[in-house]
This record gives sequence, structure tokens and C-alpha cells, in this order.
Amino acid sequence: RIAYVNGQYVPHEQAAVHIEDRGYQFADGVYEVCEVSGGRMVDQRRHMERLVRSLGEIRIAMPMPMAALDVVIRETVRRNRVRDGFVYVQVTRGVARRDHFFPDPSTPPSIVVTARSVDPRKADALALKGIAVITAPDNRWERVDIKTIGLLPNVLAKEAAKAAGAREAWFVDGQGRVTEGGSTNAWIVTAEGKLVTRQADTAILRGITRTVMMEVAEKLQLRVEERAFTVAEALAAREAFVTSATNFAMPVVRIDGHPVGEGRPGRVARALREHFHESAE
Ligand code: PDD
Repeated sequence: RIAYVNGQYVPHEQAAVHIEDRGYQFADGVYEVCEVSGGRMVDQRRHMERLVRSLGEIRIAMPMPMAALDVVIRETVRRNRVRDGFVYVQVTRGVARRDHFFPDPSTPPSIVVTARSVDPRKADALALKGIAVITAPDNRWERVDIKTIGLLPNVLAKEAAKAAGAREAWFVDGQGRVTEGGSTNAWIVTAEGKLVTRQADTAILRGITRTVMMEVAEKLQLRVEERAFTVAEALAAREAFVTSATNFAMPVVRIDGHPVGEGRPGRVARALREHFHESAE
């Protein structure tokens, strides 16, 4: 495998950044995960737009022009011979002597691009069974709309999910309402057949898959409501599912050990999953 690190393509085992990289010391950086399907980037434009937004929100300069980044992404996919898989892009505030204040503006941001293959049949097999989730207090900062590499609460919540035999943790705010998953957006389908997913304010990441699924739902003539829902509402729902670039739509069949609906993957999640790649760019 080959990784792109600050201007060079290097063997994956030797790909490294400096110990004083601000990403390493302060989680001072942002990232994107973009799917590759059949050799093509899925929704790259939207992912790159969100990268630019995330960088802007924490005032890191774009490390290279977008056209150049596009070339690097393509080249990284090509050199790793990825047909189906994911591209990871990470940008940090660069390398500087440890100091909380921003480094001198002349400090170049660090950029890393990796690509790896995955067997899409694995996720498809999982989607046939559905996944279990647990709930956990949302103890993250108030700007999770920025896709930062500061993911410690997400890591801890997901590890707790794993320990409980689940795949994802749903963060719950102070009012008992679900914000999102540790690495996914959360959805339910109400008894009336309405899709509900939390409004994209600063309490969730505005998932690209979430946006595309709204378009898919519209094409399938399904109604979508952007509002918060409670854990109780999710337990009483007909279906629940999560979305992300790595999961598309993944049915949720248990929440904290209780079945959702009939405890089996639902029709809406399946339909969204099937039609996702038609609507993705
Ligand atoms: N995670 N919410 C959070 C907290 C996420 O980390 C992600 C994505 C999403 C879904 O966003 P999108 O549909 O654009 O992938 C929502 C990526 C996949 C990750 O961290 O690996």
C-alpha cells in the first residue's frame, strides 16, 4: 500500500508525520472519508466542500488547490488499485514546537491521503442482519458539525458499544433526544412511515450520506422530517437505521437490548440502501 504524505507517495509502513504535528499533539485537524465504488469516487464534490468548510471553521488554510488535491486522491486510489473501498484525507495545522497558540502563519498544514480496499459484500451481509446500538450521553464539544480528528468521545462510546455486543453508540443529548451515532447519522421510520433524522445544526455532523438519502427518499416519495427524536420514540418506531459513507444505510434492529419494530431490518432502510448509488454523484 502507498500513502500520500506532504507531497510524497511513500510505502504505507513508512508513512509518518513528525512527533510535533499538531494533529498528534492537539487533535488540531480535520478529515474526510469518501467511498470508492467501482473505481469511482462517490460524492467527492460534497466531501471536498465539507473539508473546505471544516478547515475554514478552525482556520486552517487549504494545503493545496482543490484541483491538485483531486489529482492526489486519484493517484492514491490508482496506486493502491482500489476499486471498492475508501479514501481518507486528513489535514492538520502542521508541525511546530508545542504551544497552544496557532503556529506562525507560514507553517504549512500537514496533509495525508490514504486509500484502502474493502469487500462491499461484507457490509451487505451485515445489512441483511442489521446492527445493535447502545445509547450514551453526548459528552462531545458543541461544534461537532466540524469534522475534526478529535474523536475521543466517539472512540470511547463505540468501544462501549462493542463491549455490549453492539456496533454503534447513539449519543443522547440532555433532553433525551438522539443526536447521532459515534460515526454515523441516526434515523427512524415512524409508525406513519415518516423518516425522521435530526436537523443539521451544530449538534451533529451534516453527513453527506444523510443529504443523499434525503434525495433518495424524495425520489421514493417518502416523507422526511428533520427534527430530534427521543430514544423512546426510536424504540416505538417501525424501523431505525444509520447512515455514513462507510455504511450507506445500515438497519438498526436493537437499541440498548430492546428490539426496534419487529427486530428485523426494515423495508425503508433496505430501499434506501439499494437506491443510494443511483443518487450519489
Ligand atoms: N464518519 N456523524 C459522525 C460523527 C461521523 O463521524 C460520520 C462519518 C457521519 C456520517 O457522515 P458521512 O455520511 O458524510 O460519512 C456522521 C466517517 C465515515 C468516519 O469517521 O469514519
